[in-house]
Amino acid sequence: MIRVLLVDDHGNVRRSMALVLEHEGMAVREAASAAEALALLSNGDTDVVVTDVRLDRDADGAALLRAIKERDPEIEVILITAFGTIDQAVDAIKSGAYEYLTKPVDPGRLAITVRRAAERRALSSEVRLLRAEIGNEAEIIARSAAMQGVVREAVRLADSDSTVLVTGESGTGKELIARLLYLRGNRRAGKFVPINCGALPETILESELFGYQKGAFTGALADRKGLLEEAHQGVLFLDELGEIPHAMQVRLLRFLQDGEVRPVGGAETRRVDVRLVAATHRSPEDEVAAGTLRQDFYYRINVIQLRIPPLRERPEDVRALAEHFLRRLSARVRRQVLGFDDEASRLIREYAWPGNVRELQNAIERAVNLSSGDVITAADLPAALSLAGRRSVEVEPDERQRLLDALQGARWNRAHAAARLGISRSTLWRKLREHRIDG
Ligand SMILES: Nc1ncnc2c1ncn2[C@@H]1O[C@H](COP(=O)(O)OP(=O)(O)OP(=O)(O)O)[C@@H](O)[C@H]1O
Ligand SMILES: [Mg+2]
Repeated sequence: MIRVLLVDDHGNVRRSMALVLEHEGMAVREAASAAEALALLSNGDTDVVVTDVRLDRDADGAALLRAIKERDPEIEVILITAFGTIDQAVDAIKSGAYEYLTKPVDPGRLAITVRRAAERRALSSEVRLLRAEIGNEAEIIARSAAMQGVVREAVRLADSDSTVLVTGESGTGKELIARLLYLRGNRRAGKFVPINCGALPETILESELFGYQKGAFTGALADRKGLLEEAHQGVLFLDELGEIPHAMQVRLLRFLQDGEVRPVGGAETRRVDVRLVAATHRSPEDEVAAGTLRQDFYYRINVIQLRIPPLRERPEDVRALAEHFLRRLSARVRRQVLGFDDEASRLIREYAWPGNVRELQNAIERAVNLSSGDVITAADLPAALSLAGRRSVEVEPDERQRLLDALQGARWNRAHAAARLGISRSTLWRKLREHRIDG
């Protein structure tokens, strides 16, 4: 059902338009002022707003239009104008209104225009959902209960504005979760702006983040917006917190507190509204203890923590991720690689993946490129996977020899042998049993 919000300060005008739209089977709500309209909109169940260009003293229809588009650019707005205000209406179309209708409003035109606007709205949300699904970043594999918990928590937090700190070893998917917070949240009107301060030379960091004014330094030929302003109304993703230089942590903290940006060489400040998501692959407490992360900055950022467990703690995800990457990558090289043979499956399952999902993804990418047949074999996988297995086989004859040496040196006195090896007697007995050594 099409959900319409009618805004007009004249009750009878509103009522007559409402009757027309209700007759068309639409759900209609009414507001007598811009403020009332915005209050009703915060419930989120409106497709189309029809508003008079002239409202109350505090806000006209154009201002209401801007406020609506700022909150949700997918809500379509139709303006009603008297003859004297057509110029205003044309400006409004330029700033995103769907259409304008002149008074007296023809009931048939009203109904059709609202219906078309609602269609466009439905289309734009479909496109957005599709885009989110196609963009690989939105596709998150989560078979394990642990990862499902992380995803559920992220989706729950997506609509709020509170700061989230994502922690997890490198390659676990911190940026992916940060993007999920953005894609599922209500800041899609703005951008997702990732900033990795460690990757930027300290000298240009400030102008990159805060922007600069023409002439601020040699080479500043024109005004340039900084990344913080780029993230206005969107999500700012501060990656690798511990790598941000101290002076910049102080400046960022001030920015987070007052929401103001002053470009290098500029005199005026600009208000910037961002939601902050931060990440670190180390323990933030350790970083504070080591002095790389300032405590005041950390306190401001550590509102909600989302911890992504390393891949070795969620073995249920390994197989599904491997298949996911195989599907995606073989589609990219336009060649059918159907799966993994038994040996390759075993290596993938048994490896500890210290580089987490990123390492797994790289391994599969390499394997897809190397493989000649329609399945991945052990030979296509990086050597590290089979070496890790072989190493544990090598350790065992080693250990057996050490046990035998110690026993011989102790003339087969087990208590003495245990002391020589620096292990307890019960451990020695267990190891002797494992290696089938009697004596
Ligand atoms: N659960 C998952 N499902 C699908 N793809 C994933 C998943 N987790 C991670 N990836 C993929 O693995 C790669 C690494 O993820 P991401 O960059 O988010 O990790 P990170 O924790 O930010 O790593 P780093 O610390 O190295 O920056 C990306 O290509 C990402 O798309
Ligand atoms: Mg990252």
